[in-house]
Amino acid sequence: MNESVAIVGGTGALGFGIAARLAKAGVPVVVGSRQAERATEAAERILRLVPHARVSAAQNETAVTEASRLVVLAVPLSSQVATAKSISPGLTERHIVMDTTVPLAPAVGGRPTQIVGLWAGSAAEQLRAHLPSEVGMVSGLHTLSAALLEELDSPLAQSTLLCGDRPADKEYVTSILETIDGLHVVDAGRLDMSRLVESITPVLIGINRRYTTHAGVSITGLTSSLAHS
Ligand SMILES: NC(=O)c1ccc[n+]([C@@H]2O[C@H](COP(=O)([O-])OP(=O)(O)OC[C@H]3O[C@@H](n4cnc5c(N)ncnc54)[C@H](OP(=O)(O)O)[C@@H]3O)[C@@H](O)[C@H]2O)c1
Repeated sequence: MNESVAIVGGTGALGFGIAARLAKAGVPVVVGSRQAERATEAAERILRLVPHARVSAAQNETAVTEASRLVVLAVPLSSQVATAKSISPGLTERHIVMDTTVPLAPAVGGRPTQIVGLWAGSAAEQLRAHLPSEVGMVSGLHTLSAALLEELDSPLAQSTLLCGDRPADKEYVTSILETIDGLHVVDAGRLDMSRLVESITPVLIGINRRYTTHAGVSITGLTSSLAHS
């Protein structure tokens, strides 16, 4: 796989985990941060975990310009819109941005087993409204545990639900994500289905608390990643 992926917020829990998993799968990764030094530290950490990694580091605004197509946005809800505005000048029609945001209530002082209602309907639709219209967009990875991602020797053995309006975008993103050992991508429908998908995470957080684990989802009964309609 020679298609490079930029991770905006690649220094954080989810961003680092997905960057490391992709790097382990042989995908070239650009780790993004607001600060170039922090991005470099995270890239060096990935290299220690995955010596064969093809990984570079840059400020978020530059990182997106270095992506072949896919940009993963992995920042907190509170900074999602500001980050979208900061990277938008570097985005073109070749790009697909994957939102990972779960609008958990702690972002506004609530409980982690609840989500906040957003005027746009979902975090993904909120992001869509702040990206240039020619840029592709999907949402996914909401149900993956950052802690589990970082345990690089543990296969994931789970699904991720991918939402988006353009089938070709979902097909491309699926081809990248399924390089990760044990990750099965399931087409969950249009971008507005994110309203439901984002709300699965608080359920998993509650399960994780009760069972002291990193629970995920696994969709059964499918014979192909790509939906037939
Ligand atoms: N953690 C999980 O298990 C998990 C699972 C599924 C989905 N998610 C979603 O993934 C996203 C990231 O979660 P996370 O746990 O990885 O978050 P995090 O570690 O708190 O933050 C991720 C990165 O975002 C950047 N950031 C933090 N505050 C910012 C601000 N005010 N403005 C701009 N950038 C800021 C930081 O990078 P720099 O300081 O280097 O710029 C930070 O390393 C969230 O939307 C979350 O809902 C997380």
